Amino acid sequence: MVNFLIFGPPGSGKGTQSVRLAEKFNLTHLSTGDMLRAEIASGTELGKKVSSIMSKGELVPDEVVVEMIANKVDSAKNTAGFLFDGFPRTVAQTVALEKMLNKRGMKIDTMLVLDVDHDELVKRLIARAEVSGRADDKDPAVIENRIDVYKEKTEPIIDYCRNKGIYKPVNGVGSIDDIFDRLSVIVEEVL
Ligand code: AP5
Ligand code: MG
Repeated sequence: MVNFLIFGPPGSGKGTQSVRLAEKFNLTHLSTGDMLRAEIASGTELGKKVSSIMSKGELVPDEVVVEMIANKVDSAKNTAGFLFDGFPRTVAQTVALEKMLNKRGMKIDTMLVLDVDHDELVKRLIARAEVSGRADDKDPAVIENRIDVYKEKTEPIIDYCRNKGIYKPVNGVGSIDDIFDRLSVIVEEVL
């Protein structure tokens, strides 16, 4: 099994590209954001707990997402590996993911990082607010907060992974097809 992180700020295209990569390379796409939104939509206790945190653009507690991810990894079948989207989001989550994978005889093999400038991120998320129904897309101040939280809490993971030699930056601006081709070249080299 080969495991990828798909990484980048809010609106950088992680979800869009993950769906395509998962299909092309038989990877299991695990998005903690999608899982948490599904909990909210089903009205579960967990959903109630995280809903106001997410609508402000803050991070939910590390232990919540780590446990969700471990359950999904254990239940996956017939897969070439995992594509972690929007997880890990803190260095503590990264260490927890490594431990969890190591216990199962795996590791994080490659970190794909989508580089997109601030104005393009805001433009994409404001456009998506019209159709997504996502509470965290509605308010431009929440979009800015998500980008700030990314810089402060999530971006330090890049240095952590660069030191391990698994960091692969990709230009995330351009057509969805062109970016997909850039990512596919890297994935093919690793698989
Ligand atoms: P999450 O769901 O992970 O959201 P995010 O990181 O804010 O990122 P998005 O999903 O908004 O963007 P994306 O990079 O996937 O881009 P997309 O492909 O959609 O997290 C949401 C919240 O959940 C967090 O704030 C937190 O509260 C909580 N959470 C989740 N995981 C957590 C964790 N591990 N720990 C703690 N809390 C956690 O594209 C964006 C838009 O741009 C789309 O409309 C798309 O069509 C468009 N687009 C894509 N590519 C292009 C392109 N090349 N050109 C033009 N438009 C494009
Ligand atoms: Mg996403």
